Amino acid sequence: MFEKLSQLPNDPILGLMVAFGEDSNPSKIDLGVGVYKTELGDTPVMASVKQAERDIWELEQTKLYIGPAGAPEFSTAIQSLLLGSSHPSLIDNRVATIQTPGGSGALRVAAELAKKGNPDATVWVSDPTWGNHIPLLSDTGLQIKTYPYYDVASHNVSFDAMLETLTQAKAGDLVLLHGCCHNPSGADLSQQQWQAVTQLASEKGFTPFIDIAYQGFGTSLDEDAYGVRLMAEQLPELLIASSCSKNFGIYRERVGSVILIAKNAEQARANGSQLARIVRGIYSMPPSHGAAVVAHILSNDNLRQLWLSELDGMRQRIFQLRGQLLTQLNAKGASSDFSFITQQSGMFSFLDISSAQVQRLRDEFSIYMTADSRINVAGVNSHNIDYLSSAIVSVL
Ligand code: LMR
Repeated sequence: MFEKLSQLPNDPILGLMVAFGEDSNPSKIDLGVGVYKTELGDTPVMASVKQAERDIWELEQTKLYIGPAGAPEFSTAIQSLLLGSSHPSLIDNRVATIQTPGGSGALRVAAELAKKGNPDATVWVSDPTWGNHIPLLSDTGLQIKTYPYYDVASHNVSFDAMLETLTQAKAGDLVLLHGCCHNPSGADLSQQQWQAVTQLASEKGFTPFIDIAYQGFGTSLDEDAYGVRLMAEQLPELLIASSCSKNFGIYRERVGSVILIAKNAEQARANGSQLARIVRGIYSMPPSHGAAVVAHILSNDNLRQLWLSELDGMRQRIFQLRGQLLTQLNAKGASSDFSFITQQSGMFSFLDISSAQVQRLRDEFSIYMTADSRINVAGVNSHNIDYLSSAIVSVL
């Protein structure tokens, strides 16, 4: 059978890590994969995570299985982080949460549940969306359709077109939304726009499916969860795939969760049992360590404070870098208006240059980004910003 399968190209996002590693140019710049980087260009373990790992090393008494749904203390902590501790859906017991291997694991398990609930469901995804959304979701056999999201001319959300297209979504369909810090565009829905999509979901009966992988990188932990909390309160059904990769910096530990909001407690319990069954049939149960770290940080006052200040620091640094990049591009005489970079949030923005220009940046300057011109702003620093902005201006 193996002779039937051919070699595939590298992953369009993860492949950049390999290409960057092999580039011997000392001036090379990695604006590819969405990981936080410090001023020195590295991605160290957060101090709160290090301390939690030390504590767990001391406290952990067993390596027994944790079960398909993962650790209950993790699920309780992550629900509160996303929904707030006294959210009406929690009080009404309408929530079922399971721990998953990363946000990608959460997306896949949630999509498998949707497939079971409605094999004919269509998943509506934003155009553009994260490069792995369509491969990951279509592998379940669900049908995928796109809705317009990003308008290159205004560098903002094309909201009227989005809403217009979503009027075609039916009851039983899923509409995938980015909770905050839209990947790849950095252009987010305003609170009013979240309200309008919630209203449409209520009228049409489709189920929003929110991918939230950057909570804390936009405006604040609470404000970044505005859409999640609104929909969880106002709609009968909601699926959330959340990731701790970025806000706890524990990428390789694979920590995420599916949070399901059902019409009532009975449906939440029933669907929670289905989630656990799906997990058992794919990877049996999630790994323990990373989720134990998150649960420990969130339940310990001192560590939580330390983590919050570290997360604030990351967010503020990215915010400042956006301003500095704009200043430098203007100072170098950029022929395009890049002010949108300072109006967007999270790790990503498009440069909105052509794929040929992206290729020139790579070939001539060893500057790496995805072909759609998405940059990871956290990859900019005081050592490379001059070289970077000159290079961008030279290819415009
Ligand atoms: C990204 O978009 O760069 C990150 O989410 C990493 C990944 O897995 O693609």
